[in-house]
Amino acid sequence: MAEFKETSPDAPLSEKTLTWIDNRFPLSKMYKEHLSEYYAPKNFNFFYFFGSLALLVLVIQIVTGIFLVMHYKPDAALAFASVEYIMRDVPYGWLIRYMHSTGASAFFVVVYLHMFRGLIYGSFRKPRELVWLFGCAIFLALMAEAFMGYLLPWGQMSYWGAQVIVNLFSAIPFIGPDLALLIRGDYVVGDATLNRFFAFHVIALPLVLLGLVVAHIIALHEVGSNNPDGVEIKAHKDEKGRPLDGIPFHPYYTVHDILGVTGFLLVFCAIIFFAPEFGGYFLEYNNFIPADPLKTPAHIAPTWYFTPYYSMLRAITSEMIYALVICVLVAAYLGATKAKISTLLKGGVVGAAVVAVVLLLAIDAKFWGVVVMGGSVIILFFLPWLDRCEVKSIRFRPDWHVYLYALFVVNFLVLGYLGIQPPSYIGERVSQVGTLFYFGFFLLMPWWSTLGQTKPVPDRVNFVAH
Ligand code: HEM
Repeated sequence: MAEFKETSPDAPLSEKTLTWIDNRFPLSKMYKEHLSEYYAPKNFNFFYFFGSLALLVLVIQIVTGIFLVMHYKPDAALAFASVEYIMRDVPYGWLIRYMHSTGASAFFVVVYLHMFRGLIYGSFRKPRELVWLFGCAIFLALMAEAFMGYLLPWGQMSYWGAQVIVNLFSAIPFIGPDLALLIRGDYVVGDATLNRFFAFHVIALPLVLLGLVVAHIIALHEVGSNNPDGVEIKAHKDEKGRPLDGIPFHPYYTVHDILGVTGFLLVFCAIIFFAPEFGGYFLEYNNFIPADPLKTPAHIAPTWYFTPYYSMLRAITSEMIYALVICVLVAAYLGATKAKISTLLKGGVVGAAVVAVVLLLAIDAKFWGVVVMGGSVIILFFLPWLDRCEVKSIRFRPDWHVYLYALFVVNFLVLGYLGIQPPSYIGERVSQVGTLFYFGFFLLMPWWSTLGQTKPVPDRVNFVAH
C-alpha cells in the first residue's frame, strides 16, 4: 500500500478532498498516466479524430439506448407498436430513436475510418498487435450488437433479415440445424428470438464492448500511439524521459478532438433532423411495415455496413467453388515447387490442398459462403503477421502500394454496393472477382508487401506547426 499523504490544515477544501481520494483510489495517478502525462506524437492528423469519436458514439448509443428501453416492449405482439409509440407519443422519443438509429450507422462510418487509419499507417504492427486484436474483437462485437438491435423494431426487414442470417448457420455440417435452433429458440424467428436478442443487445454485448474498449485503450497507452509517419517517438527522449516528439494528451489533444467532435456533431445533427432515414440506408423503408411471417419481401438486404460481407456470401455459388479449387491448386503448386521449406512440409502442403479440394467439392456452396463471409472479418485478426513491409506507414512505402490500398477501398465499396442490389448475373461475377481480390490482398500480403523500393524513414516525425 502506498504511503498516506498528509495535507496542511490550511489547504483549500478541493486539495484536501483530492488527497483524501488519492489516498484511497489512484485518481491523480490515472489522470496523469492517461491524460496530462500521456505523451502522444505531435503530428496526429484528422484520421486520429476517429478513436475519440468512436468513444463518443458509444456513449451516445448507451445513453439513448437506456431511454429507449424505458418505453420499448420486447414482445413480438407489442414491439412494433411500442416503437411507433416512442416515435409519436413519448416526448422527444423521435429524437432519442433517431439518435440511436443514426448512431448505429455513424458508429460503423467512424470505426471503418478508424480501422482504415490503422491499416495505412501500420498501427497494427509491433508493438501494437494487441491494440489491433482488441480492436478486431470490438468490431466483431459491434457487428453482433448491430445485427441483434436490428431485430428489435420487429419490422419486415428486421424479421426477414434475421431469418436469412440465422438460417445460414444451418448450412454448417452436422451441428448447423441444431445451432440455428439454439440461436432462434424456435423453428422460425419468433418471440423467443426477439427476447434473447433483446437480452444480448441491451446488456450482454454492451458489457463485452465496454470491457474490450477499456482493454483496447489500456493496451494502447502501455505501448504509446503510432502516428502518420509510423516513427516510434519513444526512441528519442529528453532528460526527464519524455519523448521529444510527444505532447501531453491533455490539453493538446483534448482540444484537437473537440474540433473533430464539433464537425461530427454538425453532420450527425443534420442527418437526424433532415434525413434520419438517409434514403433508406440508415432506416430501411421495408422496416416501417410490421413483421409478417407469411409475406417474404421481394428483396432482402442487410443494412449498408454489412453489405460488403453479404456480397462475398452471395458470391460463393457452386461455379465459384471451381475457382476456389483452382486457387487452392495453384497455391499448393507454388508451395511445393517455389517455397523454401523442407520436403516434409511440402508434402504437408500438398496433403492439405488435397483435403481442401475434397471438402470444397463435397460440402454445399452455401456453407462455403458462410465460411467466406466469416473469414472476411476473421482475416483482419491476422494482419499484424501478414504485413512484412520494412516500413509501417504508407508514406514511406513504394508508390504502387498506395494504388493497391486505393483499389482495396474501391473494391470494398463496390462489394458494399452490390450487396444492397438485388442479385444479377453481372453483379454476381463482379462480386466474385471482388471476393478473390479481397482475400488475395490479405493472403498474398506476406509476398507483395516485401516488393518494391521503400523510401527512407526519418529519425523524427515530420511536423509543420500550424
Ligand atoms: C468502439 C470502438 C472503438 C473505440 C471506442 C476505439 C477507441 C480508440 C481510441 C480512443 C484510440 C486512441 C485514439 C486514436 O488513435 O484514434 C484508439 C486507437 C487505436 N484503435 Fe481503436 N477503437 C475502437 C475500435 C477499433 C477497431 C475496430 C480497430 C481495428 C480493428 C481499432 C484499432 C485501433 C488501433 C490500431 C489504434 C492505435 C492507432 C495508432 O496509435 O495509430 N480500434 N482506439
